[in-house]
Amino acid sequence: MPGKKINIFDTTLRDGEQVPGCKLNTKEKIELAIVLEELGVDIIEAGFPVSSPGDFNSVREITKVIKNATVAGLSRAVQKDIEVAADALKYAARPRIHTGIGTSDLHIKAKFNSTREEILQRAVQAVKWAKNFVDDVEFYAEDAGRTENEYLARVVEAVIAAGATVVNIPDTTGYCLPFQYGDKIAYLVNNVPNIDKATISCHCHNDLGLATANSIAGVIAGAGQIECTINGLGERAGNTSLEEVVMIIKQHHGLGFYTNIKTEMLNPVSRLVSDTMRMPVQPNKAIVGSNAFAHSSGIHQDGFLKEALTYEIINPETVGAGGSKIVLTARSGRSALAHRFHKLGYQFTRNDVDTLYEKFLEVADRKKEVEDEDLDIMARQYKQEAIGV
Ligand code: KIV
Ligand code: ZN
Repeated sequence: MPGKKINIFDTTLRDGEQVPGCKLNTKEKIELAIVLEELGVDIIEAGFPVSSPGDFNSVREITKVIKNATVAGLSRAVQKDIEVAADALKYAARPRIHTGIGTSDLHIKAKFNSTREEILQRAVQAVKWAKNFVDDVEFYAEDAGRTENEYLARVVEAVIAAGATVVNIPDTTGYCLPFQYGDKIAYLVNNVPNIDKATISCHCHNDLGLATANSIAGVIAGAGQIECTINGLGERAGNTSLEEVVMIIKQHHGLGFYTNIKTEMLNPVSRLVSDTMRMPVQPNKAIVGSNAFAHSSGIHQDGFLKEALTYEIINPETVGAGGSKIVLTARSGRSALAHRFHKLGYQFTRNDVDTLYEKFLEVADRKKEVEDEDLDIMARQYKQEAIGV
């Protein structure tokens, strides 16, 4: 496989599950974890074990069924949290403790009433403590998006020296612009002397709709892991959407990255997560929305029917979407109508279609979408009129 492998860290079961109304029970979490492993994610963040006995149990049960993927448990930079996370992960084939603390001045003052030096010490202690239980320790610098780069670099250097294998640089509030987030990652690559001892991870929120763009800017600048969720679920406006970053990396292979995701599972997994979490997917959602491969305007339909690539950059089969759709509306043209009649088994000439098109527009102006049944009625009437019945 050419290029650099980007690890996909799925946090649907942790950040995604924080969405109001999306809470999952242990059975649901296990079912989704198994599917995420089949999908090919490298790391499954299974939950936040100290947050509730139910979540502790979910993380523990997930570790018993997951064979290849790393299973991560979240914790704050608090000894008790870390111990509980370690306990929940004790049966994991590949356990990872994901611990961290807020590093922006706002978090340091408003949340912890602390100082930069104290927070740096707490970060180091948390990583050292976690290392007593597992080899693989990921450190998150919460609100890194708004953390001054120089201080962030000091924290990152210190936690790597303490044993962190992955350093997560969250844009917790979705504040950064893509070039700012990319510059932040590049700054760490260029200014943290031991950065080669750890993988940099992007964890971007979508408050300004930039989570996907920021994550891609992050990997271009040198990050090796993206934290994301199915359907972009997550706190507030959500997290980076897994299907989007994976398909960007695949479609733009010239960037020199690849992932291990089985892309043909993306749509089925999206539907499963949507149903299990009771969270519908917006129709215009990239890759997995019901309209992602639907063509409704006449100009697009005409081009698409001549050559699909004119209006589709992804073959729907590649992402398990089951095929493109031509939707007949008042904006559709004659070629889409002729195509649909042909699919329904009618052999109409160009002149027939011209006449039928007028009738079609009358129906289309009354209805949002013209269905096959409408076309059958139109076709029958047209034939009867033609033979003078
Ligand atoms: O958004 C965030 O900063 C987080 C951390 C807990 C990783 O979710
Ligand atoms: Zn988050």
